Amino acid sequence: MCGIVGCILKDNEKAAPVLLECISKLEYRGYDSVGIATISDELNIKKGKGAIKEVNNELDLSDMPGNYGIAHTRWATHGKPSKENAHPQIDCSGKIAVVHNGIIRNYVTIRNELEKEGHVFKSQTDTEVIPHLIEKFMDKGLDLEKALRETIAILDGTYAIAAISVDEPNKIIATRKDSPLIVGVGDEQYFIASDAPAILDYTRTIFRPDEGDIVVLEPSGVTVKNKDDEIIEKEIFTIDWTPDMAEKGGYEYFMLKEINEQAEYIQNTLTQKENIEKIIEELEDINRICFVACGTSYHASLTGKYLIESLVGIPVDVILASEFKYSLNALNDKTLCIYISQSGETADTLDALKMAKPKSKTLGIVNVVGSAIATEADYVIYTHAGPEIGVAATKTYLCQLTAIYLFAALLSLKLAENNDDIDLTKTTDLLRQLDRVPEFIEEVLGQSDSIMKMAEKYKDKSDFFFIGRGYAYPIALEGALKLKEITYIHGEGYAAGELKHGPLALMDEGVPVVVVMPPGEDYDHTMSNLEEVKARNAEVIAVTTDDAEIKEDKADDIIGINPDVSEIIAPLVYIVPLQMFAYYVAIDKGCDPDKPRNLAKSVTVN
Ligand code: M6R
Repeated sequence: MCGIVGCILKDNEKAAPVLLECISKLEYRGYDSVGIATISDELNIKKGKGAIKEVNNELDLSDMPGNYGIAHTRWATHGKPSKENAHPQIDCSGKIAVVHNGIIRNYVTIRNELEKEGHVFKSQTDTEVIPHLIEKFMDKGLDLEKALRETIAILDGTYAIAAISVDEPNKIIATRKDSPLIVGVGDEQYFIASDAPAILDYTRTIFRPDEGDIVVLEPSGVTVKNKDDEIIEKEIFTIDWTPDMAEKGGYEYFMLKEINEQAEYIQNTLTQKENIEKIIEELEDINRICFVACGTSYHASLTGKYLIESLVGIPVDVILASEFKYSLNALNDKTLCIYISQSGETADTLDALKMAKPKSKTLGIVNVVGSAIATEADYVIYTHAGPEIGVAATKTYLCQLTAIYLFAALLSLKLAENNDDIDLTKTTDLLRQLDRVPEFIEEVLGQSDSIMKMAEKYKDKSDFFFIGRGYAYPIALEGALKLKEITYIHGEGYAAGELKHGPLALMDEGVPVVVVMPPGEDYDHTMSNLEEVKARNAEVIAVTTDDAEIKEDKADDIIGINPDVSEIIAPLVYIVPLQMFAYYVAIDKGCDPDKPRNLAKSVTVN
């Protein structure tokens, strides 16, 4: 995963400062090197290893001539982070520059052939074959656009590519396959970018090219040609995100801002009620639901299983997107597959959707409007969480959960019209409680001082366990994921009932165990697990109701939540202190919670 941008401005305007600003907004996609290329009379390139700020301090990236150019922020896949491997990559003549997000699987074969033909390579990247292929085809007399078309016919892999050439001034060409790319249409200024936050300061009018489309940006406008080389019109979207939504707004890190915004954004998701009702109207006859997702979105899906099976009684499976192909034979036209993804671009999830589409009904629950999963699925529910920049999912997770809660509740209401066996007591109770979730979250956010102290106390531990039963189990999994991804501390989420089947052997003096125990039918049972670990001298952090009667001999620390938060609604509230805990541990350990090592916001490779 990397971020790419390109822009073409009016004749007298300088592109480099704009490119620098835009690419800085994509740093969450990759942050090990950065580069910009512009064309004035010649190709100008500045690039280097390191975060954008560091490279800019050294090279002054905005000081480059030319009214158009391309830029890149890298998350290394092929070739370690270095100046040579940073993009833009160029051809032998030094006239063609390319930025690329994705992976070219057959690059070794292509490179060997090109080397035999005399091309000289300077990097270890898979990307470098692209400018050399374009060069080869332009040397044969093709123009830049046709050369790119010939090039992509040879590539096997995933890509969003933008290219410029000194021989065709005032033109940026771009294309994509299985990697995100948007085109921004401004006032006499045109953009391409991997994601919308890059260009929000310049335009909110965008479209998304389809696979194989070739986009040509010129000072006079944008042209798109499809695979058959025909000029086509694209559907234009207006993004309802404002530029300040993608700023830190006074917070030290995006993650903290995003945690604090959760109460507000949940309300946005709740406005999806009518859309969800319409979708449910059209979903006749489903007898099985499969959630398909990765990471945090997978944890949201697990909550969906508990909810739908309990409220509606339809069997629900939750499948990791990367394992989904093994379940294909069990799908049929009565199966609804629900793909959860904040980015809407996760390669594993998108591939699973494409595989299942011919056999089953498909619904995407997605944050990014017009993203690949949103476009590909039969139905889509947008979570409207605004842009999430921190790599660790927080507000998008709560908004996914909100969408799932609404879906489950509205599905049970619909099915109950013709099925007396569906008892709506839980649904009614759930809908009543959903309205109070923002208030419960605000109460938790008010506990930041005590959670900060707890983080300071536990920051040097090397292994954590998170346990819970029923609705609290996915909370435990998500709490552990948050901790490990931003603090690099090992955290393991377990169903509390599974402890005795293995992990109890690891319980020892001082091992921290976070016990998630909302009030409800599992409370007493989880309490007995708490006692089991305490008896082995583990250090217990109980996340439970603030009127719980847990004495100091049982829990070393307690995070108290409003007792009105019942277990069914707990996933929407109990995760918040665990997000905050992970955040403050990361800060105490000097880790950057927005940019965890080796991870990127949208995983467009599999
Ligand atoms: O964009 P998606 O929701 O499809 O992303 C799925 C996972 O890559 C993502 O949730 C990942 O686990 C996050 N880093 C979690 O914080």
